[in-house]
This record gives sequence, C-alpha cells and structure tokens, in this order.
Amino acid sequence: TIEDLGIRKIFNSRGEETVEVEVYLTDGYGRAAAPAGASRGSHEVVYFPNNDVDLAISTFEKSVAPDLMGLDASIQGEVDARLEEIDGTENFSRIGGAVAIAMSMATARAAANALEIPLYQHLGGTNIRDLPYPLGNVIGGGKHSRGLGPDIQEFLVLPYGAQDIYSALKANIEVHRTVFRELVKADPSFTGGRNDEGAWSARISTGTALEILSKAVKEVSSKMGFEIGIGVDMAASTLWNGEKYVYTNEGVSRTPKEQLEFVKGLIEKYGLVYVEDPFYEEDFQSFAELTDSVGDRCLIVGDDLFTTNPSRLSRGIKEGAANAIIIKPDQIGTLSRAWEAVRLAVSNGYIPVVSHRSGDTEYETLAHIAVGFGAPIIKSGVLGGERMAKLNELIRIQDYMGKVARMNQSLPQRLRR
Ligand code: PGA
Ligand code: ZN
Repeated sequence: TIEDLGIRKIFNSRGEETVEVEVYLTDGYGRAAAPAGASRGSHEVVYFPNNDVDLAISTFEKSVAPDLMGLDASIQGEVDARLEEIDGTENFSRIGGAVAIAMSMATARAAANALEIPLYQHLGGTNIRDLPYPLGNVIGGGKHSRGLGPDIQEFLVLPYGAQDIYSALKANIEVHRTVFRELVKADPSFTGGRNDEGAWSARISTGTALEILSKAVKEVSSKMGFEIGIGVDMAASTLWNGEKYVYTNEGVSRTPKEQLEFVKGLIEKYGLVYVEDPFYEEDFQSFAELTDSVGDRCLIVGDDLFTTNPSRLSRGIKEGAANAIIIKPDQIGTLSRAWEAVRLAVSNGYIPVVSHRSGDTEYETLAHIAVGFGAPIIKSGVLGGERMAKLNELIRIQDYMGKVARMNQSLPQRLRR
C-alpha cells in the first residue's frame, strides 16, 4: 500500500532539470527519475506542464500525490490508470509526462522491493530468461551534433551473433574503440569529442561514417567470432522541412521518393540490418513502401513515427509501416501503456526495441524494463556512466538468472532468414 510519496528536482546526464519520485509502501520503497529527449517526436506526451518543472512538482504535491495514497503498488495497471484519470488529458499536459513516468517506474520498483524480487521479474514473471541484444550509438550526427557532423543522427552497432551479454557489450565497446582510431585518420581536426550519448562526434560525411563503421565491425566480428550488424537512426523528422529532406552537410535535399531510393541504397550498399525513422513522423506511406521492399532483411523501426503510442502503432500495423518499434516509456507516460505497445507489437510480428533518451539518468531501471518486457533489443548507447548503468545491470541480471540465461533468439532468427 502506498503510504507516502516524495518528489524532487535532480539533473539528467545533459545537466537539465528533471524529476525524481519516491514511493514509500508499508513494506517497500522505490525511486525513479524521468529521462529526456533532444529530438522529440511531436506525438510524445507533454514533458512538463507549461514547460515548467516547478509547476510539475507543485501539481504533484497538491493534486496528484494525495489521490494516490492507499493504492496497491503491486497492481501497476491501477496506479497508472489513476495517473491518467487525475491528469484528465490525452497527453499528460496537466501533470506532466515526466512526473507520470517517474511515478510509474518508482511504483514498479517499490512493488518489486516489497515482493523481494528483481524488477524484471515483477514486470515479466519469474520464468523470464531471455536477454536483449545491446544496440549502441557509435558515431553521432544530425541534431545530436549541432548539425556539424554527418546529417544522419546515429550510426549504430548490433552484435546479434553474441552468445551472452558480456561478449555482446564487449563487441560494441571494441567497435567504438576501433572507430576512434579510424576517425583520427579521417578527420585531422577530430579531438576525440563525444556527444550526449557517448557517440563519437566528428566532421565527416555520412558515407565516411558508414565506411568506417563497416570496417570496424568486420574487424571486431572476426576477432570475436560472431556476427555484428550495423544500422542507423536517421531521425528524419529533424531533416524534413515540409517538402524535402534537407541534408545540410551533404548540401543536397531529397524528395520523399528520392529519400526512399537513398535509404534503400544505403541498406543495399552497407548491408544495414536496422534503420530507424527513415521518414518524417507522419509519412506512414513511405515507411510501408520501404518495409515492403526491404523488410525481409532489415528492421525498419518507428520511433518518432509511433512515440510508443498503441493507437499510432495500430495504424502502422494496418498500413504495414515498419516491422519494429522503439519503446521509450517516457514518450507515453506510464509503464502500462508501454507494455501495451510491446504486446501489440509482438503479437503482430514487430520487434520492440526498448530505448534510452539522449538526456538520461544514472538509473539502471531501463535494463529491467527491457528484460521484463521480453524485448530482443535494448538501445542504450555504448559508453557513458548513465548508459553503462543500464548495460552493466544486464550483466548482473544474466548472473542472477544463472545457467538458464540466454540471448533472445528471435532477433538472430529474424536477421538470418
Ligand atoms: P532523443 O533521441 O532521445 O534525443 O529523442 C534518440 C532517438 O531519436 O532515438
Ligand atoms: Zn530515434
């Protein structure tokens, strides 16, 4: 039973203010904080009411917390439904999505603590044994690099042939390190700078980034002895000007048709296994065309397209847009809605990818959410304390599971067929 609640302002990994919620139960305690995105989808829930963190905090204290007292924290759906009810809007614009997700995650942690089980088991049941493959950001561009790097936001590595989480993480770190050596050669002005997600930030073109990443992956893959794939997050809503996709660095603009051909070409040339947000967030049609033509060999992933929203995903499923979905619980405001999106995705053959935000917290909670939800992929960077907190937690979870632990085979099965 929820006996007391607390809220405070803390800082995320980017130094922005965020909220942290504490949940005190009769026999347990939990705490959680909200992450924040930089390239946010326009259909995400509202982060703070009026963009005001202090207003979010006073609203929580005055009109949210009193209404949550006495609820049973072990019934996550009830607490989350109450949050939606108290808010009363479609998008948490009154109480703030950041407060909602912090409360939702803190509730789950408190309940797991009271039950004396790990959070992933509280979410997914005691029989869970599958671990997600870590998808990591190696080279950064786009909005995450102030527009000075390549036009594409993220160049990613996915070690889908790894047999255990430790070697999977090791592979990503080795790729990141190998890429550094190549970037020094490709960009004489490269200072070794890394962006918010720990990805290398260099003034190179998209083509150079992909060449370097492919080469590094080949090297590390043969050393480690398993398959490693590469991918991109184009975050194309940030390139779209209402008519065309504007590639500032490359100095070209592409119509939706040209964009489709461009993306297909990249998948072909570099053997990409993962492409996130190749079109802006309303273009379900182009997503469907791309999925139709290359969906058998590449994951086409909707992030800003779906914003973890079950009704947007339903539309995508109907139209055949994408075959995978980014799950950022903070985009939709509660764990229950995120779970709903995951279940809808899985029952329609979509791969759920549980993901961090570029401004994240030092909490490891996301690792438990990914495992508990049974996601085949977790997207949480390669380096950086707030990323590593989640990745190292996966190693602990694997240890805790013991001999029955295994990597989620649905991913390699999908990519090898
Ligand atoms: P964000 O970017 O967390 O800054 O929104 C991550 C992404 O687009 O996947
Ligand atoms: Zn994205």
